[in-house]
Amino acid sequence: MTRVLTDVAEAASLLRAGELVAFPTETVYGLGGDARNARAVAGIFAAKGRPQFNPLISHFPDSDAAFEEVVPDERARELARLFWPGSLTLVLPRRASSRIADLAGAGLDTLAVRVPGHPVALELVRLAATPVAAPSANRSGGVSPTNAAHVMEGLSGRIAAVLDGGPCEVGVESTVLDLSSRGAALLRPGGITAEQIEAAIGPIGRALTRAAGEATQSLRSPGMMLSHYAPSLPVRLGAADVASEEALLAFGAPLPGAGAMWNLSPSRDLAEAAARLFAGLRWLDAEGRRLGLTRIATMSVPDRGLGAAINDRLERAAAPRD
Ligand code: TXA
Ligand code: MG
Repeated sequence: MTRVLTDVAEAASLLRAGELVAFPTETVYGLGGDARNARAVAGIFAAKGRPQFNPLISHFPDSDAAFEEVVPDERARELARLFWPGSLTLVLPRRASSRIADLAGAGLDTLAVRVPGHPVALELVRLAATPVAAPSANRSGGVSPTNAAHVMEGLSGRIAAVLDGGPCEVGVESTVLDLSSRGAALLRPGGITAEQIEAAIGPIGRALTRAAGEATQSLRSPGMMLSHYAPSLPVRLGAADVASEEALLAFGAPLPGAGAMWNLSPSRDLAEAAARLFAGLRWLDAEGRRLGLTRIATMSVPDRGLGAAINDRLERAAAPRD
């Protein structure tokens, strides 16, 4: 039985006892476990059905705690100062002294660390008094959860509890930036935009973030599988028209004639669209199946700022599945 909690201290004591607890962050809900407890970390992979070569992000209450596990350089310190707490994950060389379980880092010599920008998440990781490993709290390959009900849909019965902190404000996952070698590389576009990062540390490599770069990219970010965020209905991108047997993910003025419609943002606001993306995919999927629709068609979203993260998720949702 998975419990729904609102008491942060209770959630923290479950984490300390090695249990798995889903919790809100500003991006998406995370599936948390004590990163130093190998059994808890193994449990995260099992609950999600996640391949073990895909490493997890560890979460901390502040940058000092994060930098006890990894070695920051000047760029990392500057980005932490500017964007933490917030939607940025840094991949850095792991310290020899780190007690984070090998499995959390998938055996790599780097670790992904982040200080989440949500008061409940910060309080939880502070009270847990241990790094908290947390992937998004969905079954592997599925759509990420942005409220507690989404978490229960996928993980009820598989984890001890979900800490309910309401809907997530950002709605897409953190930006993953690899600083483990000289050239900074954007491994996943997310809540902090590439433009914001470049304004702080100069040009970053981002050629590898799109589907075309998948083969090369997998060397550095083993977890960025092409098919991901997949609803059960197939997804058609960049729709210029829509059929009555399709469900429409609209942006701005909706195309007429769809069998069902979810508008990411009538006013074409990218932050609003990101916040409504995963809930929209879930709703269109459920509603589309209920009505016997055949597909989800998506209108195009500009590829700047948060639009890059939205398009990345939509391309993966539309990618061929195995
Ligand atoms: O917003 C987020 O980042 C959420 C919340 C819960 O914090 N977490 C999240 O975790 O999205 P997850 O596991 O779904 O995505 C983590 C990404 C994966 O693409 C993984 O491959 C990459 O980070 N990653 C983790 N450790 C890495 C490492 N050492 N080197 C390269 N990529 C890494
Ligand atoms: Mg995920």
